[in-house]
Amino acid sequence: MSVDLLLGLQWGDEGKGKIVDVLTQKYDIIARFQGGPNAGHTLKFDGISHVLHTIPSGIFHPSAINIIGNGVVIDPVIFKGEIDKLAAFDIDFSEKLLISKKAHLILPTHRLLDAASETAKGKAKIGSTLKGIGPTYMDKTGRNGIRVGDILLDDWKNRYSTLRDKHLGMLENYKVALEYDLNDLEKIFFESIEHLKRLKLIDSEDYLHQAQKNHKKILAEGAQGSLLDVDFGTYPFVTSSTTTAAGACTGLGIAPNTVGDVYGIFKAYTTRVGSGPFPTELFDGYGETMGRVGMEFGATTGRARRCGWIDLVALKYAIRVNGVTQLMMMKGDVLSGFDKIKICTAYKTSQGEIEHFPFSIEPENVKPVYTEMAGWKEDLTQMTKEEEFPKEFNAYISYLEKELETPIKIVSVGPDRKQTIFR
Ligand code: GDP
Ligand code: IMO
Ligand code: MG
Repeated sequence: MSVDLLLGLQWGDEGKGKIVDVLTQKYDIIARFQGGPNAGHTLKFDGISHVLHTIPSGIFHPSAINIIGNGVVIDPVIFKGEIDKLAAFDIDFSEKLLISKKAHLILPTHRLLDAASETAKGKAKIGSTLKGIGPTYMDKTGRNGIRVGDILLDDWKNRYSTLRDKHLGMLENYKVALEYDLNDLEKIFFESIEHLKRLKLIDSEDYLHQAQKNHKKILAEGAQGSLLDVDFGTYPFVTSSTTTAAGACTGLGIAPNTVGDVYGIFKAYTTRVGSGPFPTELFDGYGETMGRVGMEFGATTGRARRCGWIDLVALKYAIRVNGVTQLMMMKGDVLSGFDKIKICTAYKTSQGEIEHFPFSIEPENVKPVYTEMAGWKEDLTQMTKEEEFPKEFNAYISYLEKELETPIKIVSVGPDRKQTIFR
């Protein structure tokens, strides 16, 4: 049985959490494949919003199994906090949540290293969420990391101390003043490790292989977005994992030839949080309205997200890198009342206009080329079928489908589960 993938096509926060929650009714298993608590996935139903960081977004469905794959990095403290927060919802975590023994652990000193690195970079900082993501993936590829399965070993505390001491040496080299009490951080870390030990720690790749053999329906949930991918994103202003489709193979152990549909999610405009180039970024009333109406504040850090027009150069690139088979467009409702909608169709460069995503999209190298469409006035948030959409909104959808050469199968018109229109 094939595995379907769901990925963000922009700089994250496209609405992945909402759509995974909506689609879970069609799947037996939801599996997160990369990233960690830098992610904030929001889902809303029964009037309540939930933000998940490490737990997959299928957790609220009674029958779905949720897997945290080997490609994820877990901060046991944040993870325990997430589970505690859901105590009122009668979720049987011991049965429904399975964790790969090969997933790597974020230690307290990884978070300190993240903070020291960002401080040392000054103006050139990445704008990291400061969750220790970069340093943890560096230890993984540097072959120094500690994995979830290690906490079951007799010598685990020695391994921990060895890595912690290495980190403390590195922190000294940064020569930046950080205030912290390591004893406090370690106390809560070890308490959270005991909590983690009581959950189901498994060989998740084997579990998934058996599930595929038994014809279970599996959806892989991505975090971040394609433009934050460590290879294909706007390096160095990226995250430290493979956020694109290939990351689902390495982050879960599924074979590339068993990937089925690839769902690509994008907003009807663009947002970015943190540093880095953003050709269609707006600094005017349109951008301000997108941020205010779209409530564009980070689900993890609360930072204001930068807003701008949709960028087809970037979207076409993300569709190709991921092999997207179906698109989902989010937050069209936010653009209601705009007198016009601008769409970036190419970049102007010193070599003329280009339509591919180049090595650098820094402002000195590319300027967006726009086409314009008419806006719509109607409120979309109560609409339940495509036929109710204003003609200008339908024209926007059709234009995007034609340009992107991929069908838009879901149009979301609000944060709630119910505000989802299948086409
Ligand atoms: P994720 O990281 O991709 O899961 O996305 P986030 O949860 O970080 O950000 C998406 C935000 O938009 C959340 O606050 C959602 O509740 C909200 N949202 C999702 N879809 C829609 C939509 O169609 N319209 C509106 N107005 N908000 C939406
Ligand atoms: P979800 O899954 C949006 C951004 C950070 C920063 C850069 C590196 O909710 O879409 P990191 O902490 O990974 O070292 O930060 O990546 N970033 C995100 N932006 N959504 C996310 O996740 C993000 N995760 C990381 O703002 O610019
Ligand atoms: Mg998010």
